[in-house]
Amino acid sequence: MVEAKLNVDASKFDLPVVKATEGADGIVVSSLKNDGFVTLDPGFLTTAQCESKITFIDGQKSILRYRGYPIEQLCEQSDFLEVAWLLQHGELPTKVQYDQFCLDLNHRTMVGEDFRSFMASFPRSAQPMSVLASAINALAAFYPDTTDISDPEQLDESARIIMAKARTIVSYIYRRRRDEPMLYPDVARGYVDDFLRMCFAVPYEPYESDDLSIHALGRLLIIHADHEQNCSTSVVRIAGSAHANLYSAVAAGVNALSGPLHGGANEAVLKQLEVIRDSGESVGQFVEHAKDNGARISGFGHRVYKCHDPRAVVAKHYLEQLMARGDVDRRLPADERALFDIATELEDIATHDDYFVSRHLYPNVDFYTGLLYRVIGFDAPMFTPLFALGRIPGWIAQYREMLADPQTKIGRPRQVYTGQVERDYVPMDQR
Ligand code: ACO
Repeated sequence: MVEAKLNVDASKFDLPVVKATEGADGIVVSSLKNDGFVTLDPGFLTTAQCESKITFIDGQKSILRYRGYPIEQLCEQSDFLEVAWLLQHGELPTKVQYDQFCLDLNHRTMVGEDFRSFMASFPRSAQPMSVLASAINALAAFYPDTTDISDPEQLDESARIIMAKARTIVSYIYRRRRDEPMLYPDVARGYVDDFLRMCFAVPYEPYESDDLSIHALGRLLIIHADHEQNCSTSVVRIAGSAHANLYSAVAAGVNALSGPLHGGANEAVLKQLEVIRDSGESVGQFVEHAKDNGARISGFGHRVYKCHDPRAVVAKHYLEQLMARGDVDRRLPADERALFDIATELEDIATHDDYFVSRHLYPNVDFYTGLLYRVIGFDAPMFTPLFALGRIPGWIAQYREMLADPQTKIGRPRQVYTGQVERDYVPMDQR
């Protein structure tokens, strides 16, 4: 067995190494705590919290694979529900398994009337990610017979319920914000098609599906479906390690994703493009000011990708297709179409600028997805819930892998204490 050797003053440690099939091997440091040491790694930049077989990323080579399959191939040949199955089960489904999975989800897409009332009880102005997290959490209260995670059937059922109802919930968040009726699902339509109908259909008119929007949104859901141990997924695993049920753990993931440094960046990108458009500054001036002020450009840089984010490439491809379509003038007002040109110019300037090149800062997935959601018809506050909708299969797969792993322990990082040593309490009148 390969071992790593660590010397700290006079102490010597032989640490086992877990071999990776691809990527970095892992030095097992768990035994160090018995000798009075902990490892200190803020932001967990060099810490693996688990072994995983789900997703592989090589950030130096723009590689992202789910269960070994490159996302480019999955985007070309697969669909979101097949990818959701793949992430959870490890293999592509047979036709029978796929059809059964679609059927299982279709039959769980509707929510009960009480749940609709619950959705209607949020203020219309509520922050969509707060509503989404609350609604997923509330599923545990509405389906209490599916919360015992030690029962495999209940765990399977909670996974099906979250997958099926999340799209209904996200569509209701969209409709409520606009003071429009929350529609019932139509099981004759596909997952993405019906989601778009539930968001955009006018109840008194027939709804015509738009194939390119369905296809583009389907690809967006695929590219967001998993991204190994990112912030929100780690939160899902850690909450689950305490045996919080799947609903609670996924709701925790939704909350983590809401941050502007994580899933919230897609909304921040659109706002940033609007600021550039309205400022009267050129894109080049904006970049120079950002550099001078040490401000971060939203949609650039990534903890793992130190070259092109492969997801950004897919998003840009579909954005270009939708922007080139004859009806784009009808779908997007001129001032919003201008944002696409600003984004293209911003990418061009930054990817040729020494500051960005030397720090390996490239457009990340959020750089083009906001514009893509926008041209499909969504407004900015819905961008992060759409990201979450895509990420749900990944959170479920990661939770299930965590639960099945005999090495899982309750997540409980250590600290290096640098505060006061013991001292005596001082009464208030003597301070
Ligand atoms: N614009 C300008 N400079 C940047 C940016 C940026 N977007 N991102 C990083 N830098 C600079 C930092 O200031 C730092 O410079 P320095 O070495 O002179 O101090 C250097 O690049 C390295 O930055 P780190 O913070 O170490 O990079 P890290 O990998 O920890 O951060 C992160 C990654 C948080 C994504 C960062 O790039 C960022 O804040 N980007 C903007 C927000 C964003 O787009 N988030 C979405 C990420 S994708 C996702 O979550 C799905």
